[in-house]
Amino acid sequence: MRRGAIVALVSIALVVAAVTTAIAYFVDWLPEQASEERQGIDLVFWVTVAICIFFFAIVASVSIYAAVKFRVRPDDESDGAPIHGHTGIEIVWTLVPTICVVVIAVLSAIVLAQNDKPKGDPLRVDVLAQQFAWQFTYPEEGEVRATNLYLPVDRSTRLVISARDVLHSFWVPEFGQKQDAVPGIVTTLIVTPTKTGDYRLICTELCGQGHALMRTRAIVLSQPEFARWLREQQQGPAEPPPGGEVDAQGTFVQTCGGCHELEQAGTSGQIGPSLNELALDPADVEEQIRKGGGGMPAFENDLSEAQIEALVQYLVGDDA
Ligand code: CUA
Repeated sequence: MRRGAIVALVSIALVVAAVTTAIAYFVDWLPEQASEERQGIDLVFWVTVAICIFFFAIVASVSIYAAVKFRVRPDDESDGAPIHGHTGIEIVWTLVPTICVVVIAVLSAIVLAQNDKPKGDPLRVDVLAQQFAWQFTYPEEGEVRATNLYLPVDRSTRLVISARDVLHSFWVPEFGQKQDAVPGIVTTLIVTPTKTGDYRLICTELCGQGHALMRTRAIVLSQPEFARWLREQQQGPAEPPPGGEVDAQGTFVQTCGGCHELEQAGTSGQIGPSLNELALDPADVEEQIRKGGGGMPAFENDLSEAQIEALVQYLVGDDA
């Protein structure tokens, strides 16, 4: 190759690499880093991006150079020269990608193995995924239950994840890892939050009509705040909400609001029928809540008797 050609190729490569690197570096692509496990995940991400930018620059510069240099001239009707391949180049373009893929695979395996190790004694939280809601249970803390995931900062938590119906997947972008929830098996995920805050918790496996609504929050508290939250849950609410033992409207919003519209409760779910003009027999409503059917899950095992009764009362009214 002539010296001029090499200078042209290297110049194009440098420009392409500089532009791509600037876009990769200066745009804030990744969400806030809020767990120890995210650090390793980000390392793998950026190593992979660096490899991609390097080879993109080479491929783009050769392509641009070839398109300009070897383009068809107006009066050129001749065929291209016959080419019979080049064993040396073929060995190079097989070996180099193989090495890159092995580097990414080994690095990922190391990071994933490290991320599976809790720091110290982890808190256990059982995560149950079902169409279309998350439920979190703290089995070592008196079976405390919550629909948001509360976690203490700077302590590892072992999430023990299962699914009731179909595949779902647990994801908090700021924590950096996803884990599938699979019916019939139990999967685990270690999370060690490094920052207090309120993060999105997203189902990231297409699981049915309500998939996009299958979201809740991961709330990371300081350790004293977390201990206080647990104590409050263990003792139950200090004062029962007005109107009886169970907060019927709160139960409706949390349990049914994702799928059903009801003006009185301020919910706007569109998965199930609107309940604005409900004229039903209370026995039918109760049966539907307990057993589900017609696309609706059964709630018998998730709600207390008092909650089911309160929901039926709330929906059908006292005169029923
Ligand atoms: Cu559950 Cu998507």
